[in-house]
Amino acid sequence: MHTFFNTTIRQLLCALALIAGSAVSAQAQTTSENTLYLGLGEKAGIDKIVADFIPLILADQRINQFFSKLDKAQFAALLADQFCELAGGPCKYQGRDMYTTHDGMGISNAHFNALAEDLQIAMEKNNIASSVSNKLVAKLAPMQRPIVSK
Ligand code: HEM
Repeated sequence: MHTFFNTTIRQLLCALALIAGSAVSAQAQTTSENTLYLGLGEKAGIDKIVADFIPLILADQRINQFFSKLDKAQFAALLADQFCELAGGPCKYQGRDMYTTHDGMGISNAHFNALAEDLQIAMEKNNIASSVSNKLVAKLAPMQRPIVSK
């Protein structure tokens, strides 16, 4: 009887330890996946960065010729969702894919880099640490190929 209880209690404790262990590791995983999202100040922080980014693009003579007919509100909303999703946040980008969007615009690597630089400046303005802003820019790097056509 005594042994039976001891064994049962030991089994119960083991099960509890397993459950606790998996809960901790699930939490650790979620945290590492959205560190970037948190570092950017979640959706409100991203919206603010995008709001500062758009006037920088529009004032940038290296690239502003592309944006003369821009629907600013729609562009801001799509960009913020895209950055939020890329950063591991809970948003879902529902705009067009990057190749289709920029097809035929004649965007060069220099144009791409100018836009990335403006984004870095917008993040600096919002006191985002460079370790964080570099991570977002790194997430955008694979888009260079579908966007650049010149
Ligand atoms: C990592 C770099 C870039 C990202 C993440 C990006 C993202 C986007 C997104 C999400 C949209 C809206 C898509 C939609 O309407 O469904 C868009 C539109 C646009 N992008 Fe980019 N873009 C990038 C680089 C560039 C560059 C380098 C240029 C030109 C210098 C550019 C010019 C435009 C223009 C003109 C539009 C508006 C298109 C329209 O309204 O028809 N983009 N971009």
